[in-house]
Amino acid sequence: MAQSFHGKVVINGAKNSAVAILPATILIKGKCRIDNLPNISDVTLCYEILESLGAEITYISPNEIEIDCTNITKTEVPYEFTQKARASYYFIGSLLSRFKKANVGSSGGCNIGSRPIDQHIKAFEALGAKIDSEGGTIKAEAPELKGNTIYFDVVSVGATINAILAATLAEGTTQIENAAKEPHVVDVANFLNNMGANIRGAGTDIIKITGVKELTGGATYSIVPDQIEAGTFLMAAAASKGDVTVTNCIATHLASITAKLEEMGLEVTENDDGDEVRVRYVKRPTKATIKTMPYPGFPTDMQAQTGVVLALAEGTSIINEGIFESRFRYTEELCKMGAQITVNGKSAIFEGVEELHGCPVSASDLRAGAALIIAGIAATGETTVSGIEYVDRGYENIEKKFNSLGANITRISES
Ligand code: EPZ
Repeated sequence: MAQSFHGKVVINGAKNSAVAILPATILIKGKCRIDNLPNISDVTLCYEILESLGAEITYISPNEIEIDCTNITKTEVPYEFTQKARASYYFIGSLLSRFKKANVGSSGGCNIGSRPIDQHIKAFEALGAKIDSEGGTIKAEAPELKGNTIYFDVVSVGATINAILAATLAEGTTQIENAAKEPHVVDVANFLNNMGANIRGAGTDIIKITGVKELTGGATYSIVPDQIEAGTFLMAAAASKGDVTVTNCIATHLASITAKLEEMGLEVTENDDGDEVRVRYVKRPTKATIKTMPYPGFPTDMQAQTGVVLALAEGTSIINEGIFESRFRYTEELCKMGAQITVNGKSAIFEGVEELHGCPVSASDLRAGAALIIAGIAATGETTVSGIEYVDRGYENIEKKFNSLGANITRISES
């Protein structure tokens, strides 16, 4: 247990925005600058893929680049790249949009469910593309892309963004219905509009895109702050009897998270500018029921981190995972630390315990890894978390940030 877990931590740009906006630069014939990029391995992978396609990237700082995709000629992204991250599917939408063809290896990413891409394919086909997915590669081709109405059967962040990418340079108007409303969907639309696109309604469930001839770039864009990184540190304060302020965030993007923390008895305050949120532990959190939903509901990417707080809360709590089929594997690891959790399909029941005890645990995905680090900070004794390479995909300098708040974390091997 950290003796005293308190202080202020600066939030980085959002992973799930950066991994979409970087492929989106393929649509631009010209230079653009992007800052507030998180320095994480999923973003580094995007740089590698873009340079393999022929993009010219100038690395201005660990969090800022200038990129020019004018001279890209290739439209293939091999499997050895794409199997490393789910977001590699955005290269299908962006290459198809600019070159009317794409040959992209199937996506990898966190093992939290089946994660099909049928809705992405539905969107591409609605705009006139022919899609063949064989042997781990998705081949897309279109003589031309023409605007159409796309109705999504499920709310999908990735399919919504891929539909926006494919429709931005299409002929005519596209209407996306039942669209995802996450802040990173809005960020992609704002970025493309900054570069000359015509996208309206992002952040609502109906998005209208009027195709334009080309995007010429020339602007600078700053990635939106990461609501999940911010939420992760706020949950850590709740689990570790701490007092933590996250800064360079957007408080409204955290509303479902801070509302749940207040409901559990944490003291939550926001500054007047709405870019700082403070969570202070005043007493043992009370039980809660969580149902993960598409934005603005409680984010599935905060489920594991919140599970640690519920494992230590008073009484019996429930989490219903509404998005993915297998996102409770972290609970087995928390039970090794003394938690009392029963998983039944897409629900988990938490019987709160007074404390967790440190032991070796293993991360199964990005957010599970973050949750186990929080558990290790809150627990008595030493915890060793393996699988840190998952965490490095989505968090910049996570141990440095936690240690600046009073944690005692040492990285014992290079991920
Ligand atoms: C994005 O994944 C995020 N990843 C995930 O974050 C996040 O958990 C998820 O959105 C939900 O918010 C990136 O942005 C790179 P979905 P994505 O399409 O796009 C089903 C993290 O920890 N579905 O919104 O893959 C799907 O199975 C990661 O940062 C289809 O059925 O998620 C799921 O049940 C983990 N067909 C639901 O929709 C499709 O074609 C939502 O998935 C697409 C999705």
